[in-house]
Amino acid sequence: MHYKLGLVGYPVTNSLSPWIHEQFLKKAGLTGSYSLLEIEPNESFENELDRIKKNHFDGFNVTVPYKKQIIPFLDDLDDAARMIGAVNTVVQQNGKWIGYNTDSTGFVTSLRREHPSIFQDKQCHILIIGAGGAARGIFYGLAEAGFSQIDIANRTQSAAENIVSTGKQKTETSILSLKEAEAKLNAYDLIIQTTNVGMKPNINEAIISLDRIHNASIVSDIVYQPIETKFLLEASQKGAAVHYGHTMLLYQAQYAFEIWTSKKVPADALKQPLQSILE
Ligand code: ATR
Repeated sequence: MHYKLGLVGYPVTNSLSPWIHEQFLKKAGLTGSYSLLEIEPNESFENELDRIKKNHFDGFNVTVPYKKQIIPFLDDLDDAARMIGAVNTVVQQNGKWIGYNTDSTGFVTSLRREHPSIFQDKQCHILIIGAGGAARGIFYGLAEAGFSQIDIANRTQSAAENIVSTGKQKTETSILSLKEAEAKLNAYDLIIQTTNVGMKPNINEAIISLDRIHNASIVSDIVYQPIETKFLLEASQKGAAVHYGHTMLLYQAQYAFEIWTSKKVPADALKQPLQSILE
C-alpha cells in the first residue's frame, strides 16, 4: 500500500512534518508521500477540503489556522479531539473522515520521556501559560494523566476559564493574570509556555520573567523555532530543567503516523537529527 498523506494549513511551507513523516515511512518500511496542502485564507475552506478528500488521501495533519474550523466537515471525532475542540490529525476510514488530537498525547508523552520524575507526584503544582488551542490540549492531557493541580495564566483571563471545562478529570485550578503568575512562580514545579511569544523572528520576547522560579522546577516551551527560546534560556540560567518544544512535535507526529498506518515507529532516534535541522 502506498500511503497518501499531507498537511492542511496556512502557511505550511516551512513545516517540518514532511521530513518527520518521510523518516517514519522509511523506518516502518512503508511507501508513501506527505504533501503540503496549503489552503489560503481567501479560498473557500469547504471547497478546498472537499477537493483534498476526493483526492484519495489516507489521512492528513491539520495545523494553524484550521484546527477548530475543520470540525464541522468531519464525520466523527475521537474523545480527546471532541473535549479539546481542536483536531490536528484526520484519518479516512471506509470513506468516513475521523478527527483526532495528538498534540495532547504528544505533549504528555514527550514530557514523560524527557522528565519522568514529574510523573511520580501527581499533586505537584503545574502552571500553564496561555489559553489557546495548544493550552487546551495540554491541560486535557495532563488532567487525563492524573495531575490534579493545574493553574492557568493568560493575558485574557476569560479565555482561561473556558479551559477548565475541557477535562473529564477533576483538577484544582486557579486562573491568574500573567503578572500574578510571575509573582508566584516559586509555587510551581512545572511551568508550560503555550503561546507563540518568543517564536522566530521575535526571539527577544518572553511572555513573563522567570525571576522567581525555584531551581528544582521544570520549564517547558512549546515554541521550537528557535529551539532555545529566550524563556528557556532564562530557565536554564536559573538552574531549572528545560523541556523543548520539538520533542512534542515528534511525539504528536508519532501518534498521527500510528493512527494512519497502525505502526508505532520509535520517535526518540529522530530527536537529534530534528534538533540539527532546527539549529
Ligand atoms: P494556539 O492554537 O497555537 O494555542 P491561539 O488559539 O491563537 O493559538 O492562542 C494563542 C494564545 O497566545 C492565547 O492564550 C493568547 O492570549 P489571549 O487569549 O489573551 O489572546 C496568547 N498570546 C498570543 N500573543 C500574545 C502576547 N503578545 N502576549 C500575551 N499572550 C499572547
